[in-house]
Amino acid sequence: MLTAEENTLLTKVTGNAPMGQMMRRYWVPAALAEEVAERDCTPVRTQIFGDRLVVFRDSEGKLGVVDERCPHRLASLALGRNEEGGLRCIYHGWKFNTAGACVDMPTEPGSFGFRDRMKLASYPVREAGGMVWTYLGPAGTEPKFPEYDWMKLPRDQYATVKVGERVNYAQAIEGAIDSSHSWFLHQGIIWDWKKRAETSMDTSPKMECEDTSYGFRYAAIRRPTTNPDTEKYVRVTIFLVPFTAFIPRPLEKSQNCHIQVFVPVDNERTIFYGVFFSQDGSPVDETETRRKHHLVPGVDLDRNWYRFATEENWFNQDREAMKNGSYTGINGFSNQDMACQESMGPIVDRTQEHLGTSDIAIIRMRKRMLEAVGLFQAGKPLIGLDPNLPYDKIRTEQLIIPIDQPWQTVGNYAGEYTPKVATPA
Ligand code: FES
Ligand SMILES: [Fe+2]
Repeated sequence: MLTAEENTLLTKVTGNAPMGQMMRRYWVPAALAEEVAERDCTPVRTQIFGDRLVVFRDSEGKLGVVDERCPHRLASLALGRNEEGGLRCIYHGWKFNTAGACVDMPTEPGSFGFRDRMKLASYPVREAGGMVWTYLGPAGTEPKFPEYDWMKLPRDQYATVKVGERVNYAQAIEGAIDSSHSWFLHQGIIWDWKKRAETSMDTSPKMECEDTSYGFRYAAIRRPTTNPDTEKYVRVTIFLVPFTAFIPRPLEKSQNCHIQVFVPVDNERTIFYGVFFSQDGSPVDETETRRKHHLVPGVDLDRNWYRFATEENWFNQDREAMKNGSYTGINGFSNQDMACQESMGPIVDRTQEHLGTSDIAIIRMRKRMLEAVGLFQAGKPLIGLDPNLPYDKIRTEQLIIPIDQPWQTVGNYAGEYTPKVATPA
C-alpha cells in the first residue's frame, strides 16, 4: 500500500512529473525495427512520456526520431511524405531531415534565414535487438547504451513482440514481477509450464528480495516435487530501474528466455516490448511466437499495436471454454495479464490494496523506483547508469539447488555474483 502522494510520484510520467523526467535519462525503445525496415518507409507515430514522436528511415537508411508536430502550424509529420532524404509535411510541404534540420520550405522561397532557423526537435537513435531505441533526456547527457546479451545473437535466434496496454507503466511492471500469479492466471499455458509443473506444484513460494546496483532481484523459492527435504526450486527474476524485467531462463534449454520492457506512453498507457531468445542457439520463429501468444498484428492487435480485446468486450473471455478446462477463458498469457491489469483501472488506487507476503517483489519495486526518483531529485547518480555496468552479463536462472545453498548463487548479476552451481540436466 502506498500513500496517495507516493502513488502519484510513482505513476505520473508526463510533463514535469519527476518520474518521467528521471526515466528520460535512460535509453528507451521507440519502435520495432521491422516497422521502419525499408528506406523511405511509412513513418511510425509513437508516444513516450506523453511526447508525440515520429520514427522514420530516410533514403540513405538513416533512422530519425523527431517531434511529431511540424513547426509550421503543427500538423502531424507522421502523415508526411518520406522521400529524398527527409520527411515532408503534407500540409504545406516543409521538409525535415533525421537531424531535424529544415531542408526545404517551398512556401517561403528565398527566405533562407527563416528556413535555417527552423528546427524540429530530434533525438539520438540506436538500432539494437530488433528495436529502435532513443534517448529523450537533455542533449549531451545520454548514458552508455545498454547492450544486453540477446542483442548480440543472430536475428533469427530471437523474436520480438509489441503490444499496447491501457494501464500505467507501474501496473504493467507489477504484473511482470508477480511470481505467484502465474500458477493461477496462466496455468497450463506458459511456454515452460509443463516442466515447471513437473518440477513443483508449490503455489505459495517463499519470496526473498535483494537490491542490486541496477535495481533488485527476487527469488521465488518453492518445494520441489522430488527431494523436497534436501533441495529447493529457486526462480530468480531481475528488475532493472526503470522499466525492464528479466524472467528466469526456462529449465529446459530448448525453451526460450524472455525479457520485458515497459515503455510509458503517457500516464495511463504503456507499450510492452517483449523478446523471446534462444538459450541453445536454435532459431526462434517470430511469426509462430506471435501467433502462440495471440499478439499478431492485424489479427489480435490494431494498427497502433493495441489489442482488440478491451474491457468493453470483456477481453473476449469465453465462459464456455472455462467450463471445458480453461482457467481464465482468455487466450494467450499476455492477454490474461492485460485483462487483469486493465480491469484494475488505468492507475490503480494503491491506497486501497491489501498486500500479502507474496507481494514483496511488488513492494520492493515501488520502493526502489521511489528511491530512484529521490536520487534524481537530489541530483545524485542514477540507479543502473554506471558506465562500468556490464549489461550483457546480467542474466537470471531458475534452478534446483541444495536446500542450504543461498538463492543468491543462482544466476549471474553482472559481476556482483558468479554462478556457483551447474544447471540440472
Ligand atoms: S503545417 Fe507543416 S508545412 Fe505547414
Ligand atoms: Fe503474467
